[in-house]
Amino acid sequence: MRVKGETVRRNKRQGGYDWSFLWLAVAVVATGSMMLVASDSVPERIPSYVSWTPETIAAAYSGDDFRGMLLAKRCEHCHGAEGFSDRGSTPNLAGIDRLTIWKELEDFRSRKRTSRVMEPIAESLSSRDVADLVAYYARLPVFADLQDNRNFPQARPDPSHAGMASHLVSFGDGGRGIPPCQSCHGPVAYRPGVPSLANQNGEYVLSQLEAFAGGTRANDINMPMRTISSLLTEDERQALAEYYGAGLGLQPGSSSGAR
Ligand code: HEC
Ligand code: HEC
Repeated sequence: MRVKGETVRRNKRQGGYDWSFLWLAVAVVATGSMMLVASDSVPERIPSYVSWTPETIAAAYSGDDFRGMLLAKRCEHCHGAEGFSDRGSTPNLAGIDRLTIWKELEDFRSRKRTSRVMEPIAESLSSRDVADLVAYYARLPVFADLQDNRNFPQARPDPSHAGMASHLVSFGDGGRGIPPCQSCHGPVAYRPGVPSLANQNGEYVLSQLEAFAGGTRANDINMPMRTISSLLTEDERQALAEYYGAGLGLQPGSSSGAR
């Protein structure tokens, strides 16, 4: 009898152990998936899901610019009918290369780049729409049309700011480990997915430099801009924004910025 009773007790104990094991398993799985969700919502961990593989580049070049022109009616209220915005805080898209616009739209779609305005717009686009839109904007001319109500170019900066910016654009500052802007943004060299700044609005340039420095924009692969921008002083960021916003990236020694 004693032996039988022990067997019953042991079975009960075993039964209890099985249940708690099950709950433990549920808890482990639940915590694991919560951690996955949590890590996904931290943009710093993975700056972007875009990587420059031959497939990505082919996708970014697969668009139809005529279809893009029709789709761009949804964008022109803010980005302008000719890809030049009438608001300094909204980026000009005319002549920006395909890889850049493609990457930025993909980053808004995956929320790797945050913008209350652009995230829902980008999410509403299909992959084909994105390719068509980039084909359209990349071919828009960058020369001024007097009929177009654009914000660009703004007044030239004062000589001290112009000199400060020009030095950083052409030479950087080796002492602080700042490379020249033009070694990535052109005209000296262009890298895939690096936007030309030659026709960009100053106010927008400043807002992005501040966003990179503060970490609220964190979609730069390998962090060049978060690093560089946080090494610049507030006055230098202002001077660089004024320099590009006045179209000085177009001066002799620079190129038109269009690729
Ligand atoms: C309601 C205004 C608005 C509309 C409509 C709009 N945009 Fe934007 N767009 C913005 C603003 C503002 C930003 C800058 C976001 C930021 O500060 O990061 C932006 C940023 C962008 C950028 C990033 C550019 C860069 O240099 O990094 C791209 C690309 C872009 N928009 C494409 C589009 C396309 C394509 C459409 C139409 C399908 C569109 N936008 C419609 C306001 C708008
Ligand atoms: C090592 C290369 C590199 C250098 C040097 C560099 N940048 Fe950048 N910059 C980038 C990349 C890459 C991006 C695009 C990030 C992304 O993927 O959205 C970028 C983006 C930007 C943007 C946002 C533009 C837009 O349309 O959204 C601004 C503004 C900018 N850089 C300013 C500067 C300035 C000013 C300097 C010089 C002080 C500089 N950059 C130097 C690589 C560089």
